[in-house]
Amino acid sequence: MSKKKLRSQEWYGRTGKDGIIYRSWMKNQGLPHHLFTGEKPVIGICNTWSELTPCNAHFRDLAEALKRGIWEAGGFPLEFPVMSLGECSIKPTAMLFRNLASMDVEESIRANPMDGVVLMCGCDKTTPSLVMGAASVNLPTLVLSGGPMLIGRFRGKKIGTSDIWRFAEDYKVGKLTQEDMIEVESSMSRSIGHCAPMGTASTMAAMVEALGLALPDNATIPAADSRRKVLAHLAGMRIVEMVKEDLTMDKILTRKAFENSIMVNAAIGGSTNFILHLTAIAKRIGVELDLTDFDHFSAKIPLIANVQPSGEHWVEDLFYAGGMPAVMKEIQKHLHTDALTVNGKTLGENITNAQCWDRNLIGTLENPIKPESGIAVLKGNLCPNGAVLKPSAATPSLLKHTGKAVVFENIDEYKAKVDDPELDIDETCVMVMKNVGPKGYPGMPEVGNMGLPKKLLEKGVKDMVRISDGRMSGTGFGTVVLHVSPESAIGGPLALVQNGDLIELDVPNRSLNLLISEEEFEKRRKNFVPTQLPYERGYVNLFLDKVNQAHEGVDFDFLQGSSGSEVKRDSH
Ligand code: FES
Ligand code: MG
Repeated sequence: MSKKKLRSQEWYGRTGKDGIIYRSWMKNQGLPHHLFTGEKPVIGICNTWSELTPCNAHFRDLAEALKRGIWEAGGFPLEFPVMSLGECSIKPTAMLFRNLASMDVEESIRANPMDGVVLMCGCDKTTPSLVMGAASVNLPTLVLSGGPMLIGRFRGKKIGTSDIWRFAEDYKVGKLTQEDMIEVESSMSRSIGHCAPMGTASTMAAMVEALGLALPDNATIPAADSRRKVLAHLAGMRIVEMVKEDLTMDKILTRKAFENSIMVNAAIGGSTNFILHLTAIAKRIGVELDLTDFDHFSAKIPLIANVQPSGEHWVEDLFYAGGMPAVMKEIQKHLHTDALTVNGKTLGENITNAQCWDRNLIGTLENPIKPESGIAVLKGNLCPNGAVLKPSAATPSLLKHTGKAVVFENIDEYKAKVDDPELDIDETCVMVMKNVGPKGYPGMPEVGNMGLPKKLLEKGVKDMVRISDGRMSGTGFGTVVLHVSPESAIGGPLALVQNGDLIELDVPNRSLNLLISEEEFEKRRKNFVPTQLPYERGYVNLFLDKVNQAHEGVDFDFLQGSSGSEVKRDSH
């Protein structure tokens, strides 16, 4: 035990009135007095269990394994719930509430007697919201992810979330009936866990493993595999030691850790949502990181993991092939192997014995799955503060393309017009959607990979250039330009695009431009009428007021930084 008095003793170590208040009610749970005397570190278990977040619905069970580990190592576990965001259920988009959940997490950790915390994360937004909130408190913190689902099976084929977009197109052109679709949905989600491809949930689980916030193999052990519970047990044992070592988050989350995470995200062809979440986490912990870092550090890393949507297989397969340690080992010459991780070892030490068991799943630097991966950050007169594109999910021949804009002013206009046979569009056009940014929607939904017009799908068109200020699901793919900043709703240049304008996308040169004269640009700027933002009451009102733009991480301006873990005043 370290000589430093445990933080929880500021509550439980008190005498007189305060002591009785902080301890007595706790004892109604049958907890003996010796748990409160400061011998055992109190470990908060921040649990996003919810039946409305099906990806995290197994977390009560997983928490039991975690508690066994905490008890075994001499800790005292106390589990608490926080707001849980289910990607598949929440309207208008879970992203609208990521910052709200992070506030819940931050204040719950700070206000309560705990010495360390385990963040139980799974579905897309549950990881960034918990890590962001915890980073603003900075206790010893370890992330335990819930693990991916088992691979789905439909009529003899392996399927997962990334197939939804293909199934939806088949349904649109009559290749699948509604009955077929019901069979698809039952076959796809057949086990506990989050989405089976390298969507945002698994990207986030890989992100925390690469940052050093989680134990090795956290990202890939399937939720249904008993080794997930073993990992939880070991995580419980380890967090107790982390408290004794005072291994706080800021010691793990260094600039080197962020650079590692960007490189690893390229190696796995991770979600574009990674950019927003990692940027927000960096700003919470006080590490300088900007959009150009994502391009710079991912540029030298090819696609190593052959996992959907950038590759062919599934996160479950990746686990059997060696998991993230084996992937990271392939790119180790680029990584900062001296970066410290939660198990007290360096990243380099964690991967030194890793092995690849299947070269179909894990490529090498010399012989990668795809030569280009990572994130291309675009600049130009359409996106002065940047826009992003994921080359591994795009069609190579479209990466340099000039086409006529077909503009949808908002999501409603898109839905009303996209399948209209009269719509003036062919496969050389550039589809543009406005008003799906942080403020415009609001909440920046995953609609950027807008489905192609029915008449073009029927012709066999598979991809087109699409541009918006929105996001794309981590399972999505296509030549899709996202996160255009500033967004159209606040007068970003995207708002000025008109039907028929020529747009030039040049990914090799990292540019995105609207080909109109400067005079015409100025004229349109003068005539621009801002979108009426829905200034509703409550949280949405706060969101519209305080949210920053995509290139800044879509966090609230007042949440950047940390308030530490100290609370000076008592409750009574
Ligand atoms: Fe939860 Fe995909 S819906 S991870
Ligand atoms: Mg998603």
